[in-house]
Amino acid sequence: MKITLRLITALILAITAVAGVFSYFTVQTEKTRLTAELEHRAWLLAEGLKESVGPLVLKGQSKKLDSIMEKISKDKKIIGVAVYDVTGKPVAVSKDLSAILPVKLNILFEEFKGDEGKGAYEKVTSKQNYLYAVPTYDDEGARTGTVVIFSDASYIDEYIFDIWRRNFLRILANALIISVITLLVIRWSIVGPIARMSEWMGNLRKGKFDEIFKMPKEDLFTPISKEISSLAKSLAVAHARAEEEAMLRQHAEAIWTAERLKGHVRAKLGDKNLIVVSNREPFMHIRSGKFIECISPASGLVTALDPILKACGGLWVAHGSGNADRDVVDRHNIIRVPPENPQYDLKRVWLTQEEEEGYYYGFSNEGLWPLCHIAHTRPVFRMNDWARYQEVNLKFSRSLEEAIENETYIFIQDYHFAILPRIIKERHPDAKIALFWHIPWPNPEAFGICPWRREILHGMLGADIIGFHTQFHCNNFLETADRNLECHTDWENFSITKKEHTTYVKPFPISVDFTHPPFNIEIKNKEELFKELGVKGTFLGVGVDRLDYTKGILERFRAVERFIEKYSEYRGLFTFVQIGAPSREHIKSYHEFAGRVKAEADRINWRFQSGNWRPIVFLHRHFSHAEIEPYYRHADLCMVTSLHDGMNLVAKEFVVSREDERGVLILSTFTGASRELRDALLVNPYDIEQMADMIRAAIEMEPEEQKLRMKRMRAVVRENNIYKWAADIITELTHIRHA
Ligand code: F6P
Repeated sequence: MKITLRLITALILAITAVAGVFSYFTVQTEKTRLTAELEHRAWLLAEGLKESVGPLVLKGQSKKLDSIMEKISKDKKIIGVAVYDVTGKPVAVSKDLSAILPVKLNILFEEFKGDEGKGAYEKVTSKQNYLYAVPTYDDEGARTGTVVIFSDASYIDEYIFDIWRRNFLRILANALIISVITLLVIRWSIVGPIARMSEWMGNLRKGKFDEIFKMPKEDLFTPISKEISSLAKSLAVAHARAEEEAMLRQHAEAIWTAERLKGHVRAKLGDKNLIVVSNREPFMHIRSGKFIECISPASGLVTALDPILKACGGLWVAHGSGNADRDVVDRHNIIRVPPENPQYDLKRVWLTQEEEEGYYYGFSNEGLWPLCHIAHTRPVFRMNDWARYQEVNLKFSRSLEEAIENETYIFIQDYHFAILPRIIKERHPDAKIALFWHIPWPNPEAFGICPWRREILHGMLGADIIGFHTQFHCNNFLETADRNLECHTDWENFSITKKEHTTYVKPFPISVDFTHPPFNIEIKNKEELFKELGVKGTFLGVGVDRLDYTKGILERFRAVERFIEKYSEYRGLFTFVQIGAPSREHIKSYHEFAGRVKAEADRINWRFQSGNWRPIVFLHRHFSHAEIEPYYRHADLCMVTSLHDGMNLVAKEFVVSREDERGVLILSTFTGASRELRDALLVNPYDIEQMADMIRAAIEMEPEEQKLRMKRMRAVVRENNIYKWAADIITELTHIRHA
């Protein structure tokens, strides 16, 4: 209240001062203007009179003189006219003046220059008068007397007074309006929002964490509310984790959590650094109009590693691929992330267009990716791409250089860095290096077509540990190395020794974080989801993938088509939503694949759609985790039908989202995930008939069976979560003893 009063008083004083100064100047200007006007009028009259009156003055009062003066005094602003002789005695006086004259007038005794007149204010009547006097002369030029015009000047004062009065009322009205507006603005924009914010914060304090996303949207407090919101989110996560830990302690279960991993890593690593290297960065900064947006790219690798770095801290080195990435890093190309609650360092490595073309699009994704996936897309090996690939691996090694100290732990990700382990090992023999290969490893015959297979194997064997998702891929790798290199393969310990350096090859099935992050889910049920999509439907199927030819998306669509065809009672009832994040679109096979997916969805829809219903909704854009979440939560079934996949984390994310223990997972047997999620409906994605039948089985599955299967799958993911994956690899790495 005090502030309001102070604000209003200050505003009123300021307005009054400004308005007062303006009024003063207006009054002065008006006064000058009116006086000038009065003078001019009197001067005009006097000038006209002096010619005709001059000769008559000597003759004394006469009828002619009287009538001239009566005519003139009819002017409203003129009180009257008087003619005086040279001694100052009135000779002729107009009627209205005769009652008050003779009065001794000072102006009569002024010095006149030639026939120039003079004006002055004198009080003749009770009012303020303005007198204008002009000397008169006879025909010979001798002075005969003076003509005096008496004007009423009181109207000037009245007018000025009126200006002051009006301005005063205006100031009063302004002050009133301003006080009311200030009060309302303060109430609406400050008092109200503060009350709402404090109520919201109070609810959070009381543990109502579902309120996080109901944060009042108050313009004025946007920066503060953003900070508070991320504080609240951290609080919610900490709260969830604490609850989880407490629950686990109660059940005496040994489940890995972020907290447990943090303690474990610190105990194992001591004060040694942990560096993670990957091509894809966990956060990209993108220019969007005037602003810079921070997004998390669609990548299983990012989904898996980000929680680990959040838990343990450290340095993540990756390719800076966002168009605003350079604008936000420091001079070492480092930025602390995640933006809302920084917990680790992200160091960005810049690549030229040529490097990106050859290393990423070329050798990694047109060569190694199809080579390892064997999904009927022929690998392309170009000499130039291989050269760029080696250069970029070298570039990354240089960017790590500064962070490598004695016995640093380096965790390299994926097929983009096959030769990086060897480069680092040669420079830093005591560095402990793990390489995790996120994609499958083919059999030796398939891998044998790569012209640089030996260099790749040699490069990889610079690592102390090589991890794959499954034992099957480990075996393929051991056989491939055995056939292509001079080395000793130990099938008992699953290791390869080459020139006295031993590399262990082990399966580490990757996973996701089971602690559910708080998402802002506005869509509360399936009906709202259908409404948002503009589709009428009863049963919902969902698929979430990068648009990649290994994911079996076309096969999935054909299974949906066959299902609708075969089980026509589901026409108008079942809709399959495919979320397809654009991926590697500069590569011809990916570009064409995106077109084929769209065309296939259109063809099937054209065949069956009616009214507001269609069998397939294809959403071709990047979706954030929060946007995907409602699809996972409300779907009757989720389809993961990869033709070949190292693990596939979508399958696990779907399971984590189903806190309600409902929903059915249809899962390809060619994914790593199918080894763990045995309660999914397992399918061969090439068998369209089988997949169509599984869609029906999923829709018609009894809730009890859904619950049983989901419960078991959730138990598997809860136990084999991302923290366990990280703990297993780090534990293995710390067991490495260099001779
Ligand atoms: O599966 C290999 C992988 O690197 C994943 O870890 C990740 O989900 C995907 O490829 C992302 O591909 P990119 O980084 O090329 O978009």
